Amino acid sequence: MRYPSLIALLIQVATWLTLVLFLSFFSVETELIELAFYQGVFAAVVSYYLRMAVWWFFINLFFTPAVFIALTFNLPPLGYLTVFVLLILIYGSIHRTQVPLYPSSKAVTNAITILLPKNKAFSLIDLGSGGGKLLTSLSKLNSNGRFHGVEAAILPFLASKIRGFCSQNNCSFSWGNFWQYNLSSYDIVYAYLSPAPMDILWKKAIQEMRPGSILISNSFVVPDIPPSDSIAIDDFNNSVLYIWKI
Ligand SMILES: C[S@@+](CC[C@H](N)C(=O)[O-])C[C@H]1O[C@@H](n2cnc3c(N)ncnc32)[C@H](O)[C@@H]1O
Repeated sequence: MRYPSLIALLIQVATWLTLVLFLSFFSVETELIELAFYQGVFAAVVSYYLRMAVWWFFINLFFTPAVFIALTFNLPPLGYLTVFVLLILIYGSIHRTQVPLYPSSKAVTNAITILLPKNKAFSLIDLGSGGGKLLTSLSKLNSNGRFHGVEAAILPFLASKIRGFCSQNNCSFSWGNFWQYNLSSYDIVYAYLSPAPMDILWKKAIQEMRPGSILISNSFVVPDIPPSDSIAIDDFNNSVLYIWKI
């Protein structure tokens, strides 16, 4: 699904209109807050039948009730604006990328270290490097590697920059969109994204990555392309590292 946030918005509008028409046609009277909960359930069911990703079920379910509950707190408009700006700074344009900020676990760092070459130089890029913890940890453990992270969201990028200054000089970070980076100069490409971009990531990888290089995806498979290998990680979200040899 290409524009899930737009579809979710349309679902919200359509379900509200349908409910209001239904109530006025049958002259049913109900409390607004009660109506908000009915609308939430209605919107969630519609998103389920439209086969939206599971998190949209919950977003549609709680969206209007949450708005009504928030209104009861009588927060000043500046409060909402501050929260909105903070979310943009932390999560960037998540409505477009469909990739949330969520760091790889320490167990994942250890598992990747085992996979990395020990006696020769290599380069690794982290697509969407978040706060940079994974890369700075890897760079400390693997001084024969050159590590680069690209992150689009401002606050995580700044955090990664600070981490980068305080760590080894084999680790660097750029602010930007990783889709604009060519992957041909990297031996290892690491991605911890979401199911949404995996198809297109694979197309980019086979176009740009060199033969012999490897693509590692934390938790998300490429549809219809079986990985060369996979490693189950014993961490709190049961991560799996999927590995494709290009
Ligand atoms: C699940 S987090 C993973 C963070 C880090 N790689 C790790 O494993 O700890 C995904 C990150 O990718 C970033 N991201 C998503 N799409 C991006 C894009 N097109 N360009 C750069 N960063 C992106 C998000 O902002 C988010 O911080």
